[in-house]
Amino acid sequence: MTDPAATPSAAAPAPAAPAPALRAETAADAPPAGTEGASSAVSAGGGAGFRVRAALPADVRGIRDLVQPYADERILLAKEWVGYYEAVQEFQVAEAEDGTLIGCGALHVMWQDLAEIRTLAVARQWRGRGVGHALLEALTDRARDLGLHRLFCLTFEVDFFAAHGWGTVDGPAVAPEVYAELLRSHDDGVAEFLDLARVKPNTLGNTRMIVDLG
Ligand SMILES: CC(C)(COP(=O)(O)OP(=O)(O)OC[C@H]1O[C@@H](n2cnc3c(N)ncnc32)[C@H](O)[C@@H]1OP(=O)(O)O)[C@@H](O)C(=O)NCCC(=O)NCCS
Repeated sequence: MTDPAATPSAAAPAPAAPAPALRAETAADAPPAGTEGASSAVSAGGGAGFRVRAALPADVRGIRDLVQPYADERILLAKEWVGYYEAVQEFQVAEAEDGTLIGCGALHVMWQDLAEIRTLAVARQWRGRGVGHALLEALTDRARDLGLHRLFCLTFEVDFFAAHGWGTVDGPAVAPEVYAELLRSHDDGVAEFLDLARVKPNTLGNTRMIVDLG
């Protein structure tokens, strides 16, 4: 039997339409109280006035606060509180010197060689100061550590990703065997990657982008 994992991807042209968008899912105003005072994680990088590190469960409130304004504008896809906790190990966060979270981003593995950069968000007052770059760099380093070869994203920020070597792509960007397996996922982001009809309202106006890590 064919092992889809062994099937090289085919960046073949195809349909159009991409990306994130969102359904700002509702969430309670406050998450259930939890772990206060968690210790800091290992710094993964950073820039002037901030550092990038792996996210902790205690960061979920800050991550949610970063994402929600963009979700309200249908730029990013929001999650329920539980969704953030379940995905927290995928996240890197940028933290200002006073400890405030000023950016976040996640790496969601989809296949043996492929992951999605999702929920990349920088606080508006910090945009244009290299925070997004540092987060993308940290997520890309993590992808390389995991042995991944390609990263995908659905985004309105085409120039930002293009400046980091990403290109636009049409179609599913995976071999038919892999596509068939990905159809079994319950993850909305994967459904967006597959360009499924049920998530089309989430993806209007976004661009599908991909980068080969070499
Ligand atoms: C996309 C996004 C994450 C970029 O974050 P950012 O922190 O503003 O990005 P950077 O500062 O690293 O880079 C942005 C620009 O600022 C420039 N820049 C970087 N460091 C800088 C500095 N110290 N001073 C001035 N400009 C700087 C970069 O060169 C870049 O310029 P360019 O757009 O001409 O290439 C941010 O705009 C955002 O949160 N967007 C909304 C959510 C979204 O769409 N996310 C992507 C989909 S998952």
